[in-house]
Amino acid sequence: MNLGVLVSGRGSNLQALIDAVESGKLKARISLVISDRDGVLAIDRCRRHGINYRVIKRKDFESKSYFERAMAESLKESGVELLILAGFMRVLSEEFIRAFPMRIINIHPSLIPAFQGLRAQKQAIDYGAKLTGCTVHFVTEELDNGPVIVQACVPVLPKDTEESLSERILAYEHRILPQAVKWICEGRIRIEGRNVVVESAKYGTLPVNPALEDF
Ligand code: GAR
Repeated sequence: MNLGVLVSGRGSNLQALIDAVESGKLKARISLVISDRDGVLAIDRCRRHGINYRVIKRKDFESKSYFERAMAESLKESGVELLILAGFMRVLSEEFIRAFPMRIINIHPSLIPAFQGLRAQKQAIDYGAKLTGCTVHFVTEELDNGPVIVQACVPVLPKDTEESLSERILAYEHRILPQAVKWICEGRIRIEGRNVVVESAKYGTLPVNPALEDF
């Protein structure tokens, strides 16, 4: 399967995907990475691993719609079949999402539907939550709220700062994102309304449900 990845910064989730592909655990190809920012670490990762990338910046276009059309055209030219938002810090329009129906997934650093939007880890600390985590979900027109594919729980510790909690969650993001992509590539995902079922996954094992397999 041809993967497209949208990034805005550090790209550690992109790196988890690169590692999974390079190790052979994920039988897919990263066909194109698009960054909406110049000079970010995610681009260095593409260069280092010989991955095709493009920088497409919102400010170079008259409107959000033209910006998104440029991204959609590049993705289609590269034959992208599954689009992964890996730390992409922009809200996509309904028009863009409709161009890839149930073919866009996102990683979010909370247990959706809790703490949607920006700085989800800080939101969890400020709320006093004792458990948070991360979610891979399909992207629908409702922001941070499409059908959940997989989630991992992470404790919030009394002395946590936004940085320490983010780091603890990130370690799980790097496991569940390639895992979800692998399930999709293997055709094991069935969507029943809001409910995503993974064929022959080992449900019921904490801290991740369904249980992690190879990651
Ligand atoms: C990750 O924690 C990701 O979950 C979050 O941004 C970070 C990107 O890190 N995404 C969002 O908050 C989207 N709402 P990375 O660039 O190192 O992958």
